[in-house]
Amino acid sequence: MGTSNKQLLLISYTNGLPTPDHFTLADAAVPNCNDNCILVRNHYLSADPAQKGWMTDVANYARAELGEPMKALAVGEVIESRLEGFAVGDFVTGWFGWQEYAHVNLEQIIRKVDPAQAPVQTSLGVLGINGLTAYIALEDILAPRAGETLLVSSAAGAVGSIVGQLARAKGCNVVGLTGSEEKVRLAREEFGYHGAINYKTADLASALKAACPEGIDAYFDNVGGGIADTVFENMNARGRIAQVGTASVASWDPVPVGPRRERQVLVKELRHQGFVIFNHEHRFEQALQALAAMIQRGQLRYREEIYEGLEQAPLALEKLYAGDNLGKTLIKLVE
Ligand SMILES: NC(=O)c1ccc[n+]([C@@H]2O[C@H](COP(=O)([O-])OP(=O)(O)OC[C@H]3O[C@@H](n4cnc5c(N)ncnc54)[C@H](OP(=O)(O)O)[C@@H]3O)[C@@H](O)[C@H]2O)c1
Repeated sequence: MGTSNKQLLLISYTNGLPTPDHFTLADAAVPNCNDNCILVRNHYLSADPAQKGWMTDVANYARAELGEPMKALAVGEVIESRLEGFAVGDFVTGWFGWQEYAHVNLEQIIRKVDPAQAPVQTSLGVLGINGLTAYIALEDILAPRAGETLLVSSAAGAVGSIVGQLARAKGCNVVGLTGSEEKVRLAREEFGYHGAINYKTADLASALKAACPEGIDAYFDNVGGGIADTVFENMNARGRIAQVGTASVASWDPVPVGPRRERQVLVKELRHQGFVIFNHEHRFEQALQALAAMIQRGQLRYREEIYEGLEQAPLALEKLYAGDNLGKTLIKLVE
């Protein structure tokens, strides 16, 4: 273990998209391990669209602290432990921040990770918040039935790529929206989609009618905004919409104004429900078992976009909002 702990500190909030200017690289001492804590050497850091929300200049329960390592999920190895139930050599995932070493208590640990089950970095993606969000929002909010048409936005992303495969296994007609021809191909060839539309080049209204001739029964919405405005017009009566992300809305200050959807909701009796993964922890164990079993049976594909070195993390995050990621964005710190 070295004595220096490289960190990426958040130095300013933003109401728009995060850029590398919002962070600075710093060197701190590796902390001592206190009672009821563990010291973790981070192996992989996560970059997530949610970090934009944590960086907004609005006091909220999830806001990241200025001058601290950027709030982030990570996975690493326990190198010192004074916490019952955790031993040196265990792998753990949790709120460890954008830094090389994290000194954390039980509240910051999400779970232990078994390297024999799957590569440890999957605990940040397909066996982390992305896979869990895909599984739980699909099962508990949309609950699609065989034969229904399910639409997914950001279809080739870390969440969307899992939703496509899970919904296909349920016998749905699965259609994806995504932002490049390469992602359209991946959605169709790797991630279970029967059809995929490049929303940047297609006329969305007519492309949706062609890909979903019987209308849309369920919409797994990762992006919101103008795309959702068009989708709402194509929802079937009693359709369900899970609001899982709002990636297409660059800023909520000022709140953007668009078409009013209330009439669609009323006359079609639509059900539109939000979803925040950390309010569903009671579902994690069952969902993880199901996802891990599918991976082990070779029934679930996932991709990773891996950057090397802590200093790459701000760029990795910026690229995520530009759509320049094929799969889960990770920052690798240890060979
Ligand atoms: N509610 C929760 O608890 C929860 C938990 C995890 C994730 N999420 C949300 O789920 C969504 C997907 O997350 P992820 O980690 O899997 O990320 P991801 O889909 O792998 O990556 C983000 C993607 O967003 C799309 N995007 C970016 N700007 C866009 C724009 N202006 N219009 C439309 N699409 C745009 C891009 O895909 P294209 O190239 O296809 O446009 C980009 O690749 C995010 O909105 C995230 O916040 C929510």
